Amino acid sequence: MSNSISTLQEIGRIFQKEENNFAELSNTISIFKNLVNELSTLDLENETARKSLFLTNGKALGTTWAALCLDDVLRTKMFIKGVFKAIEQLRKKSTKPIHILYAGTGPYATLLLPIFASFTTEEVQATVIEINTESFENMKRLINKLGFDQYILSYENEDATTIRLKNPETIDIVLSETLQCGLIKEQQIPITFNLLQQVPENTILIPQSLALDICLLNYAGLKNRTENTPEESFCSVLERVIEITNKAATQFQLDLNTSATQILAQKQIMLPMDKMSLYDNVALLTRITVFENEKIAINESGLTIPILLKKEIDLKTTQKFTIQYKIDKQPGYIILKDEIM
Ligand SMILES: C[S@@+](CC[C@H](N)C(=O)[O-])C[C@H]1O[C@@H](n2cnc3c(N)ncnc32)[C@H](O)[C@@H]1O
Repeated sequence: MSNSISTLQEIGRIFQKEENNFAELSNTISIFKNLVNELSTLDLENETARKSLFLTNGKALGTTWAALCLDDVLRTKMFIKGVFKAIEQLRKKSTKPIHILYAGTGPYATLLLPIFASFTTEEVQATVIEINTESFENMKRLINKLGFDQYILSYENEDATTIRLKNPETIDIVLSETLQCGLIKEQQIPITFNLLQQVPENTILIPQSLALDICLLNYAGLKNRTENTPEESFCSVLERVIEITNKAATQFQLDLNTSATQILAQKQIMLPMDKMSLYDNVALLTRITVFENEKIAINESGLTIPILLKKEIDLKTTQKFTIQYKIDKQPGYIILKDEIM
């Protein structure tokens, strides 16, 4: 197994680099994928592995789809880099082991394997939660095969939106990536709420900030941009609809025991008529700050693809509209037309 450990250490080293060399990152993802697949006993073509779980406040991905998250190159790099950074920051302040609560591990505990390979059990420990039993069992076996069992304080095959944590006061980092662009369908927000309500106030949340911005977009400008093109040249932000940080549980009201639709945020948007000729779309942008300056920019990942609202908002006939963000069995945004010209 020492080969696997040194491979995971090397993966962690490459993901911590400042620059993004895409050939190197893609190659690293392939190596990571081969490693976890060789140590897994999953049939990802199987019908049951494809079945997602549908819950009162969103869905949990089937094993096949959760396994595929690894392929989202920059997502995987930035999350792992962010976790490394958060650990390093905490280690400067304390010598006790850093306790990471990882909710929604998928079948591979992808975001923590390079961490376990790079730190000792005196430095890092984890509680791992996964609702999907097939993903949970594979994750547990994989951790065992890699010899990482001693890093795990508790394995929980539980729903992270309702779980009562065993030692919440010991948790330093809450880590979860249970989201899609637009914060639609999946349970990132209910999970975050439930966990934040139990852990200490200053616990680091990863991602540190998740926000939805409504903006005017020039689609050709987005497509033709280069690395140095400023966002303002193709996108004008109209309003921040919602932002989730580690203060969210005190900022928003969310009852985790109801299946009724709950509106967490609502914004009325006036379209600036003098600017409209420059844009051809209203879009919803997902902003992800993983940790401090580790951010995932527009279109860098499947999680940050702009949602074009062409069908809902006709720029020729709309002056203002209202956007809401809701939690129910299908979390996401709602557009309400206020006025037609
Ligand atoms: C998008 S996948 C990410 C997997 C892995 N963390 C990664 O980054 O590659 C999300 C995982 O969270 C799990 N999940 C979703 N909702 C959950 C919940 N309420 N409680 C526990 N796990 C959940 C899903 O079953 C799925 O395995």
